[in-house]
Amino acid sequence: MAKDAKILMTFEVTPTSHLLSEVRQRGGYGALEKALKTMTPEAVGKEVNASGLQGRGGAAFPTGRKWSVIQLDDGQQHHLCANADEGEPGTFKDRWILENAPHQLIESMLIAAYALQVRHAFVYIRGEFDLPYRRLAAALEEAYAAGLAGENILGTGFSCDIVIYRGAGSYVCGEASALLTSIEGKRGYPRNRPPRLTVKGLYQKPTVVNNVETLSNVAWIVNHGAEAFKAIGSPKAPGTRLISISGHIARPGVYEIEIGYPWRRLIYDDCGGMLHGAELKCVIPGGISTKVLTAADIDGLNLYPAEVEAAGSSMGSGGMVAIAEGTCMVRLMQVMLRFYHHESCGQCTPCREGMGWLHRIIDRIVEGKGRMADLGVMERISRLQDGNTICGMGDAAGYAVLGILAKYRHEFEHFITHGRSMCEGNLECRASS
Ligand SMILES: Cc1cc2nc3c(=O)[nH]c(=O)nc-3n(C[C@H](O)[C@H](O)[C@H](O)COP(=O)(O)O)c2cc1C
Ligand code: SF4
Repeated sequence: MAKDAKILMTFEVTPTSHLLSEVRQRGGYGALEKALKTMTPEAVGKEVNASGLQGRGGAAFPTGRKWSVIQLDDGQQHHLCANADEGEPGTFKDRWILENAPHQLIESMLIAAYALQVRHAFVYIRGEFDLPYRRLAAALEEAYAAGLAGENILGTGFSCDIVIYRGAGSYVCGEASALLTSIEGKRGYPRNRPPRLTVKGLYQKPTVVNNVETLSNVAWIVNHGAEAFKAIGSPKAPGTRLISISGHIARPGVYEIEIGYPWRRLIYDDCGGMLHGAELKCVIPGGISTKVLTAADIDGLNLYPAEVEAAGSSMGSGGMVAIAEGTCMVRLMQVMLRFYHHESCGQCTPCREGMGWLHRIIDRIVEGKGRMADLGVMERISRLQDGNTICGMGDAAGYAVLGILAKYRHEFEHFITHGRSMCEGNLECRASS
């Protein structure tokens, strides 16, 4: 069943919606007070588990299940990290929270810290973020000054410090284990698992890493209860999603939709359709690491994870890119591969070498020196990434390449045969050449 747009975890954005005074007027930090004064840590964990909240960072892992690995009575320090790295191209919804609703994250993190008995929590924020960093830092200062963070919060005896850690611009540092390694002051290399991070994470202590949007749902869940949360979206994927939409779209931006919202309604009604009335060619649904879907693929689909998966892709990080008819998919892949090659951390041979090979091949094709055999080689290299690397970047980059080749192979064949794009002469090609 198609769903309606709802305002759930976000609220009306005003020029002052990031300030504590306005947040308090709207009832902000009421959930923190409720959790600390009327609930046990176990009860908060149970409520989040019962809500069915799933991770919004890309993998949709159940949040309650992740939290439940932490043993509250194990006598160890526990850590909580909000992942605000947001490096996935096309994704800019966490930035939106940090700029417009930083207290939503801080309040939710403090509740999560209470549930997990965390004394020191961290926000790992993308190095390039300037306004989001300043807004978050200022909001945190306000929270400390009001006794909402730090020692003896709201006089309850619970204490938690939140530390903001700025990254240095590496995509791979958004991967949970690389993020922790980076906070420890080392080079941001992803770690092999097991052990899971909830067993041995930051400084070898049990650690929960959650995406900014995931965590920002927690205050709402505590305020309204798990049942109310589950009533939104679908039982298997409850709640809303923040979709950041960009590309050839009339009104790019961040839209909060109830999970299950009709895809075309989002593009054509809410976002005003394609730029300059162009035809939609395809969509990258959830960050460039998710497989491309053609306009025909998404026809009649609702934004339920299961429906997107049945069509052959995933909702990933919620970073949607709408691509107009006439866009050259060969050049689009060239941009993607330049990115992946540059960002590979180099630990795993299939990713380190594979990204370089793929990048060199696509550059050669765009130069007009491609060979038909290149396409098979690209597919083999991409398949070799699958399951053979430490982190998910190798697999994801491989899927993205395979997805484009599967749908638009004819454009690559045309480029190789004629030494130029099928889309030569149209606006997009002239712009990118
Ligand atoms: C290369 C790579 C980059 C990633 N970047 C991010 C990121 O910027 N933000 C994020 O929340 N998750 C990112 N992830 C996913 C994280 O590893 C992790 O699954 C997520 O932060 C867990 O939070 P969640 O369960 O709330 O979704 C990335 C994963 C990979 C493999
Ligand atoms: S898959 Fe790539 S980015 Fe991930 S650890 Fe291996 S080399 Fe590094």
